[in-house]
Amino acid sequence: MAARTGQPVVPFLIEALGLLEYRGYDSAGVSVRASSGLSATSHTTQRVDSLTAIFEPWPGSLLSGTGIGHTRWATHGAVNRVNAHPHLDCTGQISVVHNGIIENAAELRRDLESHGHVFTSDVDSEVICHLVEDGLIVEDDLAMALTAAAATLQGSWAVVVLDLETGRLAATAHRSPLVVAVVGDEVYAASDITAIGSRVVQFQALTDGDVVDLSGTPRWFRRGLPSAQPPLLQARAATASTGFAGFDDHMSKEIAEQPEVAARTIDALAPGVGDGSLWHGLVLPRFERVAVIGCGTSLNAGRVIASAFERLGGVPSTSFIASEAAETVIEPGTLMIALSQSGETADVLRAVDELDLSRSSLVAITNNEHSTLARRADSVLTCQAGPEIGVAATKTFVAQVVTGVATALSALVATGRMTPGEAARQVDDLKRLPDLLAHAIAVSSEALPPVVDSVLDEPGFLFLGRGSGIVFAAEGALKLKELSYRWAEHYPAGELKHGPLALIQEGTPVVVIDSGERRLESNIAEVEARGGRVIRIGGPGSTVPALGQSLTAPFPGAMDRWGPLESVVPLQMLARELAKALGHDVDKPRNLAKSVTVE
Ligand code: G6P
Repeated sequence: MAARTGQPVVPFLIEALGLLEYRGYDSAGVSVRASSGLSATSHTTQRVDSLTAIFEPWPGSLLSGTGIGHTRWATHGAVNRVNAHPHLDCTGQISVVHNGIIENAAELRRDLESHGHVFTSDVDSEVICHLVEDGLIVEDDLAMALTAAAATLQGSWAVVVLDLETGRLAATAHRSPLVVAVVGDEVYAASDITAIGSRVVQFQALTDGDVVDLSGTPRWFRRGLPSAQPPLLQARAATASTGFAGFDDHMSKEIAEQPEVAARTIDALAPGVGDGSLWHGLVLPRFERVAVIGCGTSLNAGRVIASAFERLGGVPSTSFIASEAAETVIEPGTLMIALSQSGETADVLRAVDELDLSRSSLVAITNNEHSTLARRADSVLTCQAGPEIGVAATKTFVAQVVTGVATALSALVATGRMTPGEAARQVDDLKRLPDLLAHAIAVSSEALPPVVDSVLDEPGFLFLGRGSGIVFAAEGALKLKELSYRWAEHYPAGELKHGPLALIQEGTPVVVIDSGERRLESNIAEVEARGGRVIRIGGPGSTVPALGQSLTAPFPGAMDRWGPLESVVPLQMLARELAKALGHDVDKPRNLAKSVTVE
């Protein structure tokens, strides 16, 4: 993140870094070169906010000018102040912030050290400062020194370099997002437009290999030569809300927003479903099969969407974990749907780059229309979730599923696999979702507190489902792990007797997502016979009767064939309540980041 502004730069950097904290919150730091010529660098291993106290006693004149800042998710090197960005070269002149991973850092470091460079951190990024330092000896031009440095790097990077002596500023990127924006005399750079959205109207995105000299009016280079400016993009609605709006944390606010998000998404997409026009709008070729790809919660959303294609339209479907997908053979006629709320997850971007999609079509479902994934896909469906700040995805899951299911319905109509009348019935079902989600929130708020009290000391949890319920069990276990730091596994309930039943002892919590599958009863009995504590979501005798009417009085259509989507609500709330009771920060769980831009 960088800014050159006539207004106080440090407070702005701190505020903007707060909006980027979802990228990581292991440590943070700022370098500033004031208009007066004074410069300073400071780091913290606390949250970004604590930088305010560090800079508060500093003279006002030091707070204006040009600055860079960073919030870190540790890859190389422990979480401590020395490893926090910005990093400095030997002279203390060159200050660098870097996102990504320098894969050949060890080799470069050995070489630099053999030429007398002294390193102060364990971080791969530090090589960049020393390489730029060397480059400036050859030619006193920051953009050219950065070009030379980048040419020796392998891996991924979004880099901003500040010359603390002169105030010169330059940036470059390769496989990691970076945008720049100019407002009058002011210049901004950020790894996500949301960080600077309050100040800018238009921005430009760097593509791999771009180097931008931001010292004055931005000058763009590729391979050391001046290059054309990339198109201007609109920064509309890109500002993230920082407040809790009366809730205790972002996560509870975002859970509460789910009925509204579902309603907004359905309103936006429903008109295109009945006649398949949503599908035509995407201008896609015919397809024989569907594949979904993603990570974490987005992968789970993709799996729900894949099952909608398969169960409602008989389309063979498969799902790929993005980090493992690169070598997969994609059959011709595959509709490939990549899901990523951020659109910046490195594993997803690498997979879509490396898969041979020449005979298939790539659709992105993302909550970030400006993202790298959106730019790389043949067609883009933007979710209507609004900014999600809590690291654990909640409302973006709901938005992705509803967007994907509406797309599936439209596609099935357009390819003659579903009649418009049947699609209209399905849309009527979808329209019940906002009420079902609201009902699930109300019921879970009542039912969960005693459940949480009873499992506070349990070290591990099992989540079970059958059929369409399995993926929700997976999402429940994922949420519980990331927020409560307790072990949690999910299993298809039928597999219980083939191994996991050995884990059950007196009081072991077993969360069962009852999607109406008759055979679940015997699996529940097997758990209870061994003293397990069944927490039943939905179905007869529910611990948390949060599944509305969907299972006791099946829908006229078939939403329950890929649902019950509303079951995600008690699962999210169980994880959150348990984490709160254990004293954890539910918005910023340890070791995790919301958008992981490294592989
Ligand atoms: C990180 C987050 C997860 C998220 C996953 C995929 O691991 O902690 O909550 O589901 O990335 O993120 P994406 O932006 O691609 O949906």
